[in-house]
Amino acid sequence: MKFFVDTADIDAIRELNDLGMVDGVTTNPSLIAKSGRDILEVTKEICDLVDGPVSAEVVATEADQMLAEGRHLAKIADNICVKVPLTWAGLKTCKTLSDEGTKVNVTLCFSANQALLAAKAGATFISPFIGRLDDINIDGMDLIGDIRTIYDNYGFETEILAASIRSANHMKDAALMGADVATAPPGVIRKMIEHPLTDNGLAQFLKDAEKAGIKIV
Ligand code: E4P
Repeated sequence: MKFFVDTADIDAIRELNDLGMVDGVTTNPSLIAKSGRDILEVTKEICDLVDGPVSAEVVATEADQMLAEGRHLAKIADNICVKVPLTWAGLKTCKTLSDEGTKVNVTLCFSANQALLAAKAGATFISPFIGRLDDINIDGMDLIGDIRTIYDNYGFETEILAASIRSANHMKDAALMGADVATAPPGVIRKMIEHPLTDNGLAQFLKDAEKAGIKIV
């Protein structure tokens, strides 16, 4: 499973990228607003930093304006992936941009039928929002499983990008469900390493090494 980082925080992206944990980046208007930076400027910086796709989201709601925004964003760098919402205008924009050779991430997906439409429109990625479904007592992972089955049934090439990931368990479950990609905030990726038995085991090894006077260099 590929890891995308869900942030516009350059330092956090750089830190995880240096560890080989970044296959791409996703942003959205809320994350750009949180960064306090100009969308074009910060997105360009992220594109220069990472090799994989960097999702930048349109803010228009009408297809013509959405397409103009998408084309503008696509000019930032070769690894831009234009993010559009799961509306008819978004799907129309997805179809046109995909036909032009631009990568498209269709976002705000909450049902298997929506995912089916996005695949038909040529989406590069579909982003089902796990955490926001869990928030309303619907199991977000079931949606990942349903989309996996449907896409495999018909050989759709659209990649399933599990989004709205809130915990390390979500990462594991997305991988078990066969998501192609999971995008998570940097803090969630950092949490994936934690295990008390690793900490306890290491403490014991270090204690024994000190007692025995083990030195390597
Ligand atoms: C990523 O593409 C989404 O915009 C993001 O994962 C949404 O996460 P949230 O539901 O925690 O805001």
